[in-house]
Amino acid sequence: MRLALSASLAEHPGIGPKERRHAAASARAVARWLRVVDAALVRAGAPKAIPADRALLRYLAWRVAVEGCAPDEAAHDLRLPGPRRPRVISDADVLRVARALPRPGPDGPLATDAEGKALSPPSDPVVALALRGSVPDAFARRLLRDLGPDGARACLAALNRDARLVLRVNVARAGREEVRAALAAAGIAAEPGDGPWSLRVEDRASLFDAPPLRTGLAEVQDESSQRAVELCRARPGERWLDLCAGSGGKSLALAALGAEVTAWDASARRLSELDRRAHHARAEVLVVREEPTGAFDGVLVDAPCSGSGALAREPDARWRIDDAAVTKFQKAQADVLARGAERVRAGGALVFATCSVFQEEGEEVVLAFLAANPAFRMVAEERRWPHLDAGAGFYMARLARRAGRASPRGRTRLTGHGAAR
Ligand SMILES: C[S@@+](CC[C@H](N)C(=O)[O-])C[C@H]1O[C@@H](n2cnc3c(N)ncnc32)[C@H](O)[C@@H]1O
Repeated sequence: MRLALSASLAEHPGIGPKERRHAAASARAVARWLRVVDAALVRAGAPKAIPADRALLRYLAWRVAVEGCAPDEAAHDLRLPGPRRPRVISDADVLRVARALPRPGPDGPLATDAEGKALSPPSDPVVALALRGSVPDAFARRLLRDLGPDGARACLAALNRDARLVLRVNVARAGREEVRAALAAAGIAAEPGDGPWSLRVEDRASLFDAPPLRTGLAEVQDESSQRAVELCRARPGERWLDLCAGSGGKSLALAALGAEVTAWDASARRLSELDRRAHHARAEVLVVREEPTGAFDGVLVDAPCSGSGALAREPDARWRIDDAAVTKFQKAQADVLARGAERVRAGGALVFATCSVFQEEGEEVVLAFLAANPAFRMVAEERRWPHLDAGAGFYMARLARRAGRASPRGRTRLTGHGAAR
């Protein structure tokens, strides 16, 4: 969605910054509330529509049925001037639909019909939670199973709020208070987060022009992601492999702690951003183009996952989640964890993390791994919930390869284009 949104905004250079922010926020909100929005349109008897009108009606339904905006006001905002219209639906039909839409209550959307009469939820608790929380049934079923009704509702509510913007201070180059003061000088309020390097900041358009961000003294990183790096407990001079480095958020955080980091990812496209980011942060990360061999002091496996814990940041990821997807990710996680384990020296650390709230993508993967790999033991395990902890929903575990057992032989073979600065 992010790519589609920026491509679409790029096609309309005439749109001002305020409108761009509104368009982006609305697109994210409609993607988040799609199930509620479509159910509300069915209830309102909305006409079958061409795609442009469908998008318009979904925006209307989000404003009225989710945000609780007055129907006439929402319909009025959608009137188009002039005779040429990129849509078929008339202003009168838009108003009629707006007035027939259900309204939200204190506990969320779909609370009452247009006349204010309470709407009864579907009798199946899974469908009721999934509908009002705007997620697929497979998502709601797992939350109910693991958290019970109150916990599941609270978790979904947290996932359906916009994520807080958090920075990680590049501790190799600056202290947290120093960065906080520089942000304050640029007019941006910041307060320390839970982790030792985190600063929670206001979401301001000018943030990325502020000196600490421009000069690589801080960058955006979710608090749970920072916690996964903390769990690595990487020490200066230790050799760490980031096996699913992506564009390198955690590689850079490990490097800031003084570790010698080798970064690899199955996606060359994602990895290609890491050189630029490392240069910006003035960090040294060895970005390799072939999966490394040999032994490392520590291996981080930030595995591919459903992203169910990160919906606050990626609201549309929910629509790709079903039972088959969870099974597919679980298998991929088991594979990549086993490969990561092969790279850990005797006595070394293996850290596994996923930004998922599903046990299948966390506890189950690690339990199965430990059962099959007696050379490893659990050192620490952490489950972070979006409604209880700061940051995205995450699972993370630190395992250790027992000393004295067989460990990978040979020197690390690295191929690639060398260390980024
Ligand atoms: C959760 S993301 C990693 C995010 C990254 N660590 C960060 O902090 O920005 C998971 C990554 O795993 C990569 N991936 C998927 N399958 C993989 C595999 N078999 N081996 C290595 N990486 C894989 C994906 O390309 C994706 O970049």
